[in-house]
Amino acid sequence: MQYGYFDDDAKEYVITRADTPLPWINYLGSDGFFSLISNTCGGYSFYKDAKLRRITRFRYNNVPHDEGGRCFYICDGETVWSPAFLPAKTALDFYRCRHGLGYSVFEGKKNGVSASLTVTVPMLTDMEVQKLVLKNESSIEKKLTVYGVAEWCLWNAVDDSTNFQRNWNIGEVEIEGGTVYHKTEYRERRNHYAFYSVNAPIDGFDTDRDTFLGRFRGWSEPQAVEQRTSFMSIAAGWAPIAALRLSLTLAPGESKTLLFRLGYVENTQEKKFTALNVINKEKAHAMLAAFDTEAQFDAAMDALKAYWSSLLSRFAVQSSEDKLDRMVNIWNQYQCMVTFNMSRSASYYESGTGRGMGFRDSCQDLLGFVHLIPERARERIIDIASIQFADGSTYHQYQPLTKRGNADIGSGFNDDPLWLIACTCAYIRETGDFSILDEPTPFNNETGTEVPLMEHLRRSLRYTVEHRGPHGLPLIGRADWNDCLNLNCFSLTPGESFQTCSNFESGKAESVFIAGMFVKYGKEYAALCDRIGLSEEAADVRVSVEEIEQATLRFGWDGEWFRRAYDAFERPIGSRENDEGKIFIEPQGFCVMAGIGGPEYGKRALASTEALLGNEFGIEVLHPCYTEYHDYLGEISSYPPGYKENGSVFCHNNPWITLAYCMVKDGNGAFDLYKRNAPAYIEDKSEIHRTEPYCYSQTIAGRDAKTYGEAKNAWLTGTAAWSFVAVSQGILGIRPDYDGLIVDPCLPDTMDGYRLSRLFRGTRYDVTVRRGENKGLIVNGKPVPGNIVPLTDAPVCAVALTI
Ligand code: BGC
Repeated sequence: MQYGYFDDDAKEYVITRADTPLPWINYLGSDGFFSLISNTCGGYSFYKDAKLRRITRFRYNNVPHDEGGRCFYICDGETVWSPAFLPAKTALDFYRCRHGLGYSVFEGKKNGVSASLTVTVPMLTDMEVQKLVLKNESSIEKKLTVYGVAEWCLWNAVDDSTNFQRNWNIGEVEIEGGTVYHKTEYRERRNHYAFYSVNAPIDGFDTDRDTFLGRFRGWSEPQAVEQRTSFMSIAAGWAPIAALRLSLTLAPGESKTLLFRLGYVENTQEKKFTALNVINKEKAHAMLAAFDTEAQFDAAMDALKAYWSSLLSRFAVQSSEDKLDRMVNIWNQYQCMVTFNMSRSASYYESGTGRGMGFRDSCQDLLGFVHLIPERARERIIDIASIQFADGSTYHQYQPLTKRGNADIGSGFNDDPLWLIACTCAYIRETGDFSILDEPTPFNNETGTEVPLMEHLRRSLRYTVEHRGPHGLPLIGRADWNDCLNLNCFSLTPGESFQTCSNFESGKAESVFIAGMFVKYGKEYAALCDRIGLSEEAADVRVSVEEIEQATLRFGWDGEWFRRAYDAFERPIGSRENDEGKIFIEPQGFCVMAGIGGPEYGKRALASTEALLGNEFGIEVLHPCYTEYHDYLGEISSYPPGYKENGSVFCHNNPWITLAYCMVKDGNGAFDLYKRNAPAYIEDKSEIHRTEPYCYSQTIAGRDAKTYGEAKNAWLTGTAAWSFVAVSQGILGIRPDYDGLIVDPCLPDTMDGYRLSRLFRGTRYDVTVRRGENKGLIVNGKPVPGNIVPLTDAPVCAVALTI
């Protein structure tokens, strides 16, 4: 069943009913100011950091799920309604939500009045702008009362929802014309404030939430709205809001446009106040003036659309598979931008109050983003490397606002360092910019410790070499990619973090997955060394790669698949010897991608993977699921069977298997798996899958789950980047390389070829792949041996490959 449809020309997903199984959201903003917005207009806004600079309040565990984000009320006679259904909940005569790239449009109609609400964060602006067009489509005059409301968060989202003995005393606002300024804590150490404003004279306001709502009422029935009035309340402590009221008279056929603006401003210490405790509003005035007219707003929308068209034109395919084209050309790349911006920090599920930017997560997110805006990828690589410690280990996460490592989660996730090599090599292959390797980069952000980025990569690699266990395999530490396989944790205390408690530092537990990573990225590092004239180092690294490859073949191969790990007592995990958790997905992906055991082992591992882990939605993490808790395995066995790391389809690692299929040249296997969880391909199962059909989710419940097929935690998942890598570099086979663009498709029998346009190092490559007799590569009309299209200075290059 579907709740909407794709509009590919407009690059929009059109939701036709408000009662989607879960809020289906979109992300607005691309740099400083971000907003989340659901198909009923819920959500929240923040500046750079969802924990430390939360602008509007959101109640995660609320019922209804996302009421109270952006509230609009239209009062028409006896009826009160909201353009996006919530919060008024009045049944609409027409409802539609169109989520586009960086904007959302809500169209609602009631009793002859139509509302069209477009919400966006204009580029380079620290402000969400909401354009509300009201039209009288009836034959009688309409007198409407309109409210626009925002509820302020007291900046630190964790403190805001916990420290009430202080918080209920500190809320402060200022009012100037039709603008409410939120200035809690501005009197003391904060230099930032927010504002909510409308571009027309208001008839009244409220800034105290409880006065506006009234006792025993929620957002669906505020007292002020019921009485068509405002109480002109001035918040003093409690919960400050901005509720603006306007009256409109619309003749039949007439329409009027209002622009509501929610902004964020930082002032310097010197220019903080204009009088005692009165905020300096100069910047806010300038921002409001920049978005005061419909023409200004429309120009910003045009610029946003042009920006996205230009970004997406960097990689665009035309094939016989509409759904593949739709994912590749629009939605997968869009999600890659969102995961680049957010890492795992802010969604409806990643609440933005815990995790900041993940080290491994952000490194992987870059793989699907680097072709879009390489300059931002460069900056990110340096930010990430700057939280690394001198011994090559690293903080696991950092806060986007401060860019400092998060001490509460700490370090010790032994796969982390190797991902830095993965993303740096991907960046250089994309851009040819070897100078990044010379970039002075500190350890743990300490001034004076700067060394060239290359030294960070070197220490990353050495960290694995120097931390090996009894079988010569890399030690796992607190966990590797699978955060929940905690082999040194042994926790028996409820509530204790499985990742940070280490009751049993065995110094023995090993990861076959990290071994696969090391072989793959160790080879890439050696190749990089060769390129920059470090051939001795390259040779040394290859010796270590060979050692770990041999250890993997000896102790990591189980007979028909790769083992997962060795526990603290040197017992295998992910082996036929185990009763549960006999096989895991991760090493099948990475060891095959690394080429360990060649195509023969690869094919056998993939056959076992499909036979034991395959379901209708992809490949499950492990099989059989753990049915009871084991302290020596940690969090993985804490989940009920079929959920999360205990046997769901954890979508992030499915593309590794797709790429493994490509590694053994099995195009049918690769595409078959790709289709099983690519959102556009399962749109018609939305009532089972439940999350948005235009983006990947973290997990899809496995066969053993009570809700098999149900997805959770949409948007912020490494699936976005890896799926883009799998389809673009694996199936379509377009791989940026140091010396040129590799064209090496691995297509299913059902696809005869494709046409593709790829911007690479300033040249637009127009690629045509087709099946035929005279196999080979033709570049600008001339045959070229192999599958690398050499670099060129020409603006355009025509590439034809016959397979
Ligand atoms: C984390 C990833 C991790 C994955 C598997 C996600 O929640 O963000 O870093 O690899 O879970 O445990």
